[in-house]
Amino acid sequence: MYNLHVAIIMDGNGRWAQRRGLPRTAGHIEGAKAVNEVVETAARAGIRALTLYAFSADNWGRPNTEVAALMRLLRRYLMTETGRCIEQSIRINIIGRRDRLSQSLVHAIEQSERLTASCTGMHLRIAVDYSAQYSIVEAARRAGADLDVDSNRFQELLDEVDHSAAPAGAVDLLIRTGAEKRLSDFLLWQCAYAELFFADCMWPEFGESGLRAALDYYAARQRRFGKVAEAGS
Ligand code: IPE
Ligand code: IPE
Ligand code: MG
Repeated sequence: MYNLHVAIIMDGNGRWAQRRGLPRTAGHIEGAKAVNEVVETAARAGIRALTLYAFSADNWGRPNTEVAALMRLLRRYLMTETGRCIEQSIRINIIGRRDRLSQSLVHAIEQSERLTASCTGMHLRIAVDYSAQYSIVEAARRAGADLDVDSNRFQELLDEVDHSAAPAGAVDLLIRTGAEKRLSDFLLWQCAYAELFFADCMWPEFGESGLRAALDYYAARQRRFGKVAEAGS
């Protein structure tokens, strides 16, 4: 139904927990559980690519215990969900830097990517140690003195820097939960013409109904890409 690239900034786990008198890490555990429902809803809706922001390059600045909990959850997610992704023909790809991740996490990433490489359904991309500014600077550095570089070639360089296994292209719909309206260094290049949907709920509460509301919002948008609307549309 939807030939879309949807990207989600999964924000609000910490506040979800704090409001319940729980430690922030309890919010991350709940947030990780919430991922499945959204992934399955997206796959069933026929979304082509789903990019989830799981850990930003700036998130390294959080307390060590929280960072360690997030890294553990990521590894566990990959180890437990890869089988379910294969059943649903979902291809997994982790985007972002890998040189600052633990060996065991890199191993889990490589294994999930290898095991789902031939899946032809939805492309599930999870952004870990990701910074759009870093990717852009690094792609520019790789472009070097190539004066022929155009936006298509630059996008290829970005995919290379990001370890993007298959080109996901421009983001059609960017969603952020957690009642904040900012991009926090996520997919700045790819969101040039993205429709933006901000949800007031915290990430663990978003779920199937949240994604459906975002897709309804998207369906009602008229995208013009700088042109004028066609008569009758
Ligand atoms: C999003 O939730 C998850 C990550 C950034 C890893 P937060 O942890 O940012 O939750 P809040 O924004 O503090 O509530
Ligand atoms: C963005 O959320 C990063 C992720 C959701 C992984 P943050 O909570 O880190 O963003 P800021 O600090 O509110 O901008
Ligand atoms: Mg946050």
